[in-house]
Amino acid sequence: MSHAAKRIGILTSGGDCPGLNAVIRGAVKTAERHGYDVVGFIKGYEGLVDPVTYIPLTNRNTAGILTQGGTILGSTNKGRFAATCGVQDRLELDPLLLAGVKATYEQLDLSGLICVGGDGSLAVAQQFHEYGLAVVGVPKTIDNDLSATAFTFGFDSAVACATDALDRLHTTAASHERVMVLEVMGRHAGWIGLYAGIAGGGDVILIPEIPWTFENVCSKILERDQQGKKFTLVVVAEGAEMPDGEVVTAERRQDTRQTRLGGIGNVVAYEIEKRIGRDTRVCVLGHLQRGGGPTTFDRVLATQFGSHAVRLIIEEKFGEMVCYQPPSISSVPIIDAVNKLSRVDANSSAVQAARALGISFGDAADLLGPFCVEEALADEEVSNEAPTVSESVEPTPAPVELAVSEPVPVEWEAAAAYADGAMW
Ligand code: F6P
Repeated sequence: MSHAAKRIGILTSGGDCPGLNAVIRGAVKTAERHGYDVVGFIKGYEGLVDPVTYIPLTNRNTAGILTQGGTILGSTNKGRFAATCGVQDRLELDPLLLAGVKATYEQLDLSGLICVGGDGSLAVAQQFHEYGLAVVGVPKTIDNDLSATAFTFGFDSAVACATDALDRLHTTAASHERVMVLEVMGRHAGWIGLYAGIAGGGDVILIPEIPWTFENVCSKILERDQQGKKFTLVVVAEGAEMPDGEVVTAERRQDTRQTRLGGIGNVVAYEIEKRIGRDTRVCVLGHLQRGGGPTTFDRVLATQFGSHAVRLIIEEKFGEMVCYQPPSISSVPIIDAVNKLSRVDANSSAVQAARALGISFGDAADLLGPFCVEEALADEEVSNEAPTVSESVEPTPAPVELAVSEPVPVEWEAAAAYADGAMW
């Protein structure tokens, strides 16, 4: 490769998400206009060494990728560069690997490297920076759990997917008078569950940040029954801790760097059926949330992130990560970004609005009236003890039987149910 041109490298690391290609395109277009070549390393950090694997990226070969899901460069979240098993759980990279990366920089004459990734991948970028390599970060995660940025791209797309699932579950739940449990992603933070739950008309939202009990979940279902709403939508984040503090994992071994979560939806559904005998079904959304193209919001955010990352390299602001601090795109030191998670504040306006609407978070605060929650939770006298199901709700009233002489057409009954809001 000729050493004449200025050159920028880019890679995508960790779990994929909608918007990665929009970042790549945004970076390439900006770089070309400023006289830089761009090379894209294949399969994340793996492409940097032994064997060095990359492709030249141009306006031409990135045309049309704005709307595509996944990443044209491939990605990996395991392998030689897996640097963390969670926040603040740093593993040092092998010095030989770092030396190999440095050699690649020199060989390709890189002015800087753009690392697009979540907290684990950005922790690797931070080690590159500490080693003296010119690097900038772009935050990526559908979980939206990086504190330095108001939003990460991919989150809005994941919420749109989960909301669409709830819309679909809504109609089948109402038709069969069932409880539907939707398990969504969200390892440390319940942003997807919260936003999708509000947007999709969920009735119960269980997230890692708010401790909950099965008694309160069941109370909500029975309360809805009493109101004539014979179905309930429960949204549960995969990382929501069980009442005993455990997380439900999809694998027996828990000694891997990042234990695979999954299965809490089934546990919640099983307990609901066991405790109150309600017909319950589960839908685990899984990687559907990570697949597909980005929403318009994510396209705009990702494009700005890619473009701003190039600007950081041109301005030699190395060791920085681009971020969105509304209304501006700016940057913060990577080290500050990787050490702090953004989690749902139980007193935030979104949670308060949800509670005011009657959405349950499975905690004792459900028993308080709208808008009283913040003050009441701060009040030590408020009991955290949830009443048992039998204490808190009256039994479901028996259906009214119509006299034989007054037949009511089936269509009319359904229409009446819609009209009085029972379907919703
Ligand atoms: O961190 C993003 C995330 O989507 C988590 O919500 C989820 O637990 C994890 O990735 C799944 O990762 P993998 O694709 O490796 O199973």
